[in-house]
Amino acid sequence: MKAIDLRSDTVTKPTPEMRAAMTAAEVGDDVFGEDPTVNQLQARVAALLGKEAALYISSGTQSNQLAIRSHTQPGQEIYCEENGHIFNYEAGAPAALSGVQVRTLPGVRGVITAAQIEAALRPADHHNPPSRLVVLENTHNRAGGAIFPFEEMEKIHALTRERGLALHLDGARLWNAHVATGIPLLEYGRLFDSISVCLSKGLGAPVGSVLVGSAEFIDRAHRFRKMWGGGMRQAGLIAAAGLYALDHHIDRLKVDHLHARALAHSFLEFPEIEVDLAATQTNIVIVELRKTGLKAHDLVVKLKEKGVLCLATAPTRVRLVTHLDIHDEDTKSACRIIEEILQHSL
Ligand SMILES: Cc1ncc(COP(=O)(O)O)c(C=O)c1O
Repeated sequence: MKAIDLRSDTVTKPTPEMRAAMTAAEVGDDVFGEDPTVNQLQARVAALLGKEAALYISSGTQSNQLAIRSHTQPGQEIYCEENGHIFNYEAGAPAALSGVQVRTLPGVRGVITAAQIEAALRPADHHNPPSRLVVLENTHNRAGGAIFPFEEMEKIHALTRERGLALHLDGARLWNAHVATGIPLLEYGRLFDSISVCLSKGLGAPVGSVLVGSAEFIDRAHRFRKMWGGGMRQAGLIAAAGLYALDHHIDRLKVDHLHARALAHSFLEFPEIEVDLAATQTNIVIVELRKTGLKAHDLVVKLKEKGVLCLATAPTRVRLVTHLDIHDEDTKSACRIIEEILQHSL
């Protein structure tokens, strides 16, 4: 039995066409700046987001952390939503690698407002850590793939211009937000000083993220990437998968979004189960079991026995993520298995 793997959109395997593009890639030593495929990918992503420059990086974590390091000095304060990836899932890197203090703000579905950020900013006084950087996440992983409203991002952009702060976007799944809202990537690019996008999540490439920003910012990030041992040599082999994904795997994300909705609805057949449909806007479904008496771990085990893999992200919370390797028939089978198991468990 082939498992239906809904643990994450990072579990995808390169398609035969993507592998062919990788095999055919022209390569060179990227630490010398001589890999034509890496250079092409960087230029392509910079242009898509309307930025001067881009840097190919091995992971979303390293890309976000290079952005934080490149925008800040040790002792400064940065702001993000309390469930943000940079604060919860990047191994304490802002403190360890950049020496910054992270101030988290409580959000609703991952969204913090300009007014909240403004209220948190510190007056210039040598008792205070200097306020330096705001980091937003779109779509928001822990909030179930929720999309950050564009109007609020515009307000935050205006605030950061007024107060001399930098603004970074963790856009690991910005592609999903772009496809779901129809807002052009250039519009997102206009609001942020830097954006990190991932190629290895919904887009299905095996490795890689890209950080974009001004030429000066990317130059700084490039130096820190070297310092952190992130320089790669004939990386065109993997960058080619990213280029292939940009050509072929963006529009199809809408299929993942439909699959996520279908999964959400199969849980909602059961009134004790909560799924926040307003947050289920893209490819992540968060299922809350607190009213059912069921433990997330037990449900995950029962689903696994029937070939559906997902993750318990809290004692009563289960997460399912749709992606390139989940086809219509997989979603239909998963919905049927979920309903069968819940009929017997509730
Ligand atoms: C929103 C978000 N940002 C950053 C990352 C980090 O990416 P990576 O796993 O490539 O380090 C992830 C990973 O899932 C993510 O969901």
